[in-house]
Amino acid sequence: MPAPNSQMPPAVGLPFPPSPQSAQSPPPYSPSAPPSTSPSTAAAPSFLPLDQLFTNPVFAGGLGLASLGAAAAFGRRTLIQGTALLRRQLLVNIEISKRDPSYSWVLAWLAQPRDNSGFIAQRLTRLRSLSVTTTTKSLSKVAGEEGNGRTHADFRVQPGFGHHIVRHKPGVYIAVNREKASTATTATGEPHETLTLTLLWMHRHVLAEVFTQAHELAQSFQQGKTVVYTARNMQWTVLGKPRLKRPLGSVILDEGVKESLVADVKEFMAAQEWYTERGVPYRRGYLLYGPPGTGKTSFIQALAGELDYSVAMINLSEMGMTDDLLAQLLTQLPEKSILLLEDVDAALVNRRQRDPDGYSGRSVTASGLLNALDGLAAGEDRIAFLTTNHIDKLDPALIRPGRVDMMVRIGEASRYQAGQMWDRYYGDVDTDHKGRERFLERLDGLGLFGGDQKDPAVPKRHTSTAAIQGLFQFHKGDMEGAIKMAEHLIPRTYEPEPPTVEGSIKSPA
Ligand SMILES: Nc1ncnc2c1ncn2[C@@H]1O[C@H](COP(=O)(O)OP(=O)(O)O)[C@@H](O)[C@H]1O
Ligand SMILES: [Mg+2]
Repeated sequence: MPAPNSQMPPAVGLPFPPSPQSAQSPPPYSPSAPPSTSPSTAAAPSFLPLDQLFTNPVFAGGLGLASLGAAAAFGRRTLIQGTALLRRQLLVNIEISKRDPSYSWVLAWLAQPRDNSGFIAQRLTRLRSLSVTTTTKSLSKVAGEEGNGRTHADFRVQPGFGHHIVRHKPGVYIAVNREKASTATTATGEPHETLTLTLLWMHRHVLAEVFTQAHELAQSFQQGKTVVYTARNMQWTVLGKPRLKRPLGSVILDEGVKESLVADVKEFMAAQEWYTERGVPYRRGYLLYGPPGTGKTSFIQALAGELDYSVAMINLSEMGMTDDLLAQLLTQLPEKSILLLEDVDAALVNRRQRDPDGYSGRSVTASGLLNALDGLAAGEDRIAFLTTNHIDKLDPALIRPGRVDMMVRIGEASRYQAGQMWDRYYGDVDTDHKGRERFLERLDGLGLFGGDQKDPAVPKRHTSTAAIQGLFQFHKGDMEGAIKMAEHLIPRTYEPEPPTVEGSIKSPA
């Protein structure tokens, strides 16, 4: 162990001879003069022989080095602070979270081909890592042709994680940092992602341009298409690629039904002011009910296309859909979208299955659905379509203005619908409509429009529009074949059915 610290100063000072200054006597006392600045130095010359200290080459060298080190550290700190200040003053950062819709637009915009031909651009720009999103589709679905199991793939390239620099236009560069945060959305465990764009302060006006262009680009991808959102990982995500708009004319509902629905929606859309002035929530709900395969979903999709809206779809019978999640999704409905709640009867079934302790499992309950539709959390400004195959199972509370304002039965194929569908498929070959008449007579003979009034022996049956579509697609351009095979439209029964459900629809397998 070294000697205690108290002994160190004399030990350091000892080898040096006493300085002339330390030998001097203290100055005489003067009342006007300031008191001696350093009485300790003067009074105890033997403790701190400063001059000796400074003249000592070892000490002076050490001190010099130490001060150099301090100066360097100070300089470095000043430089860092200065750079930070400069950054703050000269640069502008904008952070976009993955949860924001513009995140994907800006990513797509960044990946656009750019002119990097200039000297500076060539040296400055780098889009170092790219990531790719691939969507595949079986070829038969793409063009309706035989795909032999081959698939069609679409690649979308985006800037990967890390730092990039892109040239926006001559002289304007954007530094991009795409990063995955260490924090995650608690519910899904999916890490947060951010995209930070950095620009020179003097180029800050460019940001508005960037976002406008990114939005336009995103829209151009969707031109003539209908975007379908679905709930995934507790938030709305685009389901596959935007699909081509379905023409409203391709959905054939019974006479006048489509027209009255479309007119009602359009009237509602034009009446926002009326609602706001009266403090009424600007919402409208429609319930489409009826057997499966009658065109409910297809109609809503076509309507969205007609209005240039997206479809935000939730299937209430889906696993993992809970009251909380439903409420949350409804408050974050994507802009300009029709809310489509499929199979709303599923919610009521769950109420009946509620446990005695009130726990209903991971599913939507009837009250959860009602709350989501017009409770406090229900978003303003909404068009909702509800569908069900089982109207009898619905809670009467659901069918109340504000929740459901219009109820329409989309039923089995009527004579009118069968005729219209015939025209769409064979209109060009059946110019004199004789084929259509024979087809409709055949269906009548099979009792498919609810039996034959003249012949009680003919069973009362119905078929679905989906079944007719299937028959016509099978006999493309061959109307005789379609007439001949019309008995395929008779709903197949796989088990003896109770007499009350006579005429129930089953699509052909
Ligand atoms: N009324 C209709 N007009 C045109 N196509 C129809 C009609 N009904 C059913 N289809 C066709 O049948 C299939 C199933 O229809 P979908 O809209 O899903 O029925 P739903 O939602 O009533 O069960 C789709 O391919 C659709 O094109
Ligand atoms: Mg459907």
